[in-house]
Amino acid sequence: MTASVQQPVLPALEQWSNVDNDGFFNAWRWNRYKAYLERTGLESGCDIDAIWPQIKDAKSILDIGSGFGRVIEHLRARGYKGHITAIEKCSHMVDFLKKRWSHDAKVQIIHGDILKVIPMQKFDVGLWMWSGIADFNPIEQTKLIQQFGRSCGALVVDVACHITHPIGTILSNNTYQHRMADTILCGYLPTRLDMEFYCRKSKFVELMNKQYFTAGKIDRVMHQLRVV
Ligand SMILES: C[S@@+](CC[C@H](N)C(=O)[O-])C[C@H]1O[C@@H](n2cnc3c(N)ncnc32)[C@H](O)[C@@H]1O
Repeated sequence: MTASVQQPVLPALEQWSNVDNDGFFNAWRWNRYKAYLERTGLESGCDIDAIWPQIKDAKSILDIGSGFGRVIEHLRARGYKGHITAIEKCSHMVDFLKKRWSHDAKVQIIHGDILKVIPMQKFDVGLWMWSGIADFNPIEQTKLIQQFGRSCGALVVDVACHITHPIGTILSNNTYQHRMADTILCGYLPTRLDMEFYCRKSKFVELMNKQYFTAGKIDRVMHQLRVV
């Protein structure tokens, strides 16, 4: 008898939300994470290099959707000495982060869903890297940018310029649904116009957006927002 893999039911293209991605991230173990990282070319921390002059003197940084802590690794490797608060929804990644950073009193790990848990502290900078914003639908993205406008003095939002998911991904404009084994990843890649809209709805203004290339020669854009 052959074991069959239960295919997930895809939500209607315009009706997904962040919670539909829970299965994908819960199954996202270190090997799969590394494979994705290599494909994007972000392993070297070229995104952190691209923003380093603007963040190196921040006293506190909020790492939004920290995953296995790639951003924390690159910040500390470049000599960042300030406080880092990482928030992550997935319990196995949180366990990993707590063990990895237990020696560093200036790294705080929060297990929580950013749609529900709002850290009480204020942060100089929020870092929302590796298209983390795309894991939320446009309504959730609007709400979260408003929320970060209340807790972060500045926000960096890093997104891919193009959808780079494999063949078989369902696409409609900037929305995608990608199957991975028995899980799905739904996403919405915000455009520059979307970012302008989110800023108008929040306390942020966009200072600049900077295009850069990863080691894999994939073009990405970094939006730098600041509270006015
Ligand atoms: C693309 S990964 C980015 C990882 C990391 N920021 C980096 O740049 O390497 C997105 C991360 O956001 C987390 N995430 C997704 N939805 C979340 C939510 N609602 N609250 C907190 N974390 C969430 C996922 O579990 C995943 O680890």
